Amino acid sequence: TDTTLVADLNARLRDVPDFPKPGIVFKDITPVLADPRLFGRVINAMAAPFRGQHITKVVGVEARGFLLGAPIALALGSGFVPARKPGKLPHRSIVERYSLEYGADGVEMHEDAILQGERVLVVDDVLATGGTAEATAKLVKRLGGELVGFSFLISLDFLEGPQRLGRDKVTTLLTF
Ligand code: PRP
Repeated sequence: TDTTLVADLNARLRDVPDFPKPGIVFKDITPVLADPRLFGRVINAMAAPFRGQHITKVVGVEARGFLLGAPIALALGSGFVPARKPGKLPHRSIVERYSLEYGADGVEMHEDAILQGERVLVVDDVLATGGTAEATAKLVKRLGGELVGFSFLISLDFLEGPQRLGRDKVTTLLTF
């Protein structure tokens, strides 16, 4: 295991106060992505709990979930599926609406993105209230997929996202 990963991540994540709204401290992961060694260690660590679990699809949540989900899918030998903000996907899609830490939104997935019985991992950068991940999990289940778990880089545990999603399903590298 990568014993210094948490310390190295803490040293490189950038806190941006009052973004995108006053009172929100935004966790900027771009310095992590820009470092090829650290980026690779993050992908390995986020994929590790799901190795050998026969994940067939990794769902990455727009937008930063794409950046982590696609390389995790390759690391696990799985396909990649984008879950997008409504109106962005070209093919026939299904939608789930939810309320967010800041504002309200929805998430959409192609109706043929997950096949009946597929084993699915949902990936995103940050777990806040869990609204986005919960809506994404609902899409997976509506398509007949089996939700194996969630992998986040960061969890803001004081917002109680893990409780909302089920603690046993959630893995995170960093918690605040
Ligand atoms: C952020 C984050 C998660 C979501 C977490 O996305 O990347 O997707 O919020 O919040 P929740 O747990 O309360 O649902 P954001 O809305 O900033 O979208 P973006 O990645 O497209 O900028």
